[in-house]
Amino acid sequence: MSDDIYIVGWAHSPFGKLDAADLEDLTGLVARPAIESAGIAPDDVDGIFFGLFNSGFSRQDFPSSLPMESVAELRYKPAVRCENACASGSAAVYSAIDFIRAGRGRIALVVGAEKMTGLPGQQVGDNLLGASHRRSESDIVGGFAGVFGRIAQSYFDLYGDQSDALAMIAAKNHLNGVDNIYAQMRRDVGYDFCREVSDKNPMVAPPLKRMDCSPVSDGAAAIVLADSDTAKALARRVRFRATAQVNDLLPLMHRDSTMLGGAARAWSAALQSAGIGVRELSFAEVHDCFTIAELMTYEAMGLAPLGQGASVIKNGLVAADGALPVNRSGGLKSKGHPIGATGVSMHALAAMQLSGEAGDLQLPGPSLGGVFNMGGSGVANYVSILEAA
Ligand code: COA
Repeated sequence: MSDDIYIVGWAHSPFGKLDAADLEDLTGLVARPAIESAGIAPDDVDGIFFGLFNSGFSRQDFPSSLPMESVAELRYKPAVRCENACASGSAAVYSAIDFIRAGRGRIALVVGAEKMTGLPGQQVGDNLLGASHRRSESDIVGGFAGVFGRIAQSYFDLYGDQSDALAMIAAKNHLNGVDNIYAQMRRDVGYDFCREVSDKNPMVAPPLKRMDCSPVSDGAAAIVLADSDTAKALARRVRFRATAQVNDLLPLMHRDSTMLGGAARAWSAALQSAGIGVRELSFAEVHDCFTIAELMTYEAMGLAPLGQGASVIKNGLVAADGALPVNRSGGLKSKGHPIGATGVSMHALAAMQLSGEAGDLQLPGPSLGGVFNMGGSGVANYVSILEAA
């Protein structure tokens, strides 16, 4: 048996302020549909991996067995929760890959979910700051936007004001999201709206405005992974050509915050393992929790030298009709960012693209897709290269 792992099924809830009351309801929206999408019986699942950040969002902690409430046949399967801040979903995906590669099972169900709305804004912000270094960053205000505001300010201080480029990234991702049936914000708001400070686009954490931020979201996504022998018999098959995970130091003060050093290492390792250059990717879904993160990710991917990420959005490369569309789904900015679900959602949407099942988001004949999911301020970095099989 080869070491190859395949995504063989997926399901995705809408993202946004949902009626689903809690994690259990959200899980119910995706667990069985993902198994059905894989064309397997629930009892074929050998292990369950659940991505959840929580950090105060849900009184229900300990979610690993929740999929058994909507899929009773999963009872008695091994199940575990994975947490790596905003990359908790990818942590679950990678743990499932390890589980299969270790020979503990042939099929794994990966669920990611988060219920974030319904709490006052200040509490949302403080919960999210659980992913910062509390000891040295307790003076940060404005929730996680404050963390990325600080990063953006140091980037601006070194390389000059990037507000034009950030507004272009926000406008691109909102335009892309119009076509995404799962997206929280399906509005083409345009460049000018994103660029100008206004009542509807106030400064949140200078230099970041509201339109530079991903929204607060509820949502869930699930994928089914299988080994190569099992996948051969199934209709849907998207192969992991390469994976890489790199963790960097948690405190911002111990790193150069004008670059995503861990992300750059993860991208470089994944591309090398896949044996491709970054421009051979047909598309990428990347972690635009804030627009500055997408700009710095262009540099981490190797699309531009440090300090020149703005050129990538300005030359049209990453637009939907560019040579390397980035965040055709609308990204976190428009799709929404229910923390634990995000990494699973990125893998699900990339798998849809590579199977020709992305609906209005479909790109023409993509063969290779990149996924980059980041936990915290560039701390946990996961890069997957997926391939149509
Ligand atoms: N982008 C665009 N529009 C947004 C938005 C966002 N991120 N957040 C809220 N809105 C819109 C709402 O839809 C609403 O629109 P309406 O007036 O047309 O109905 C309006 O702004 C006010 O919504 P509200 O929820 O009161 O906004 P807010 O000012 O309380 O929150 C942010 C805005 C940016 C502070 C909040 O979205 C946020 O904290 N985002 C970051 C989340 C985060 O840190 N995630 C982790 C990343 S690592």
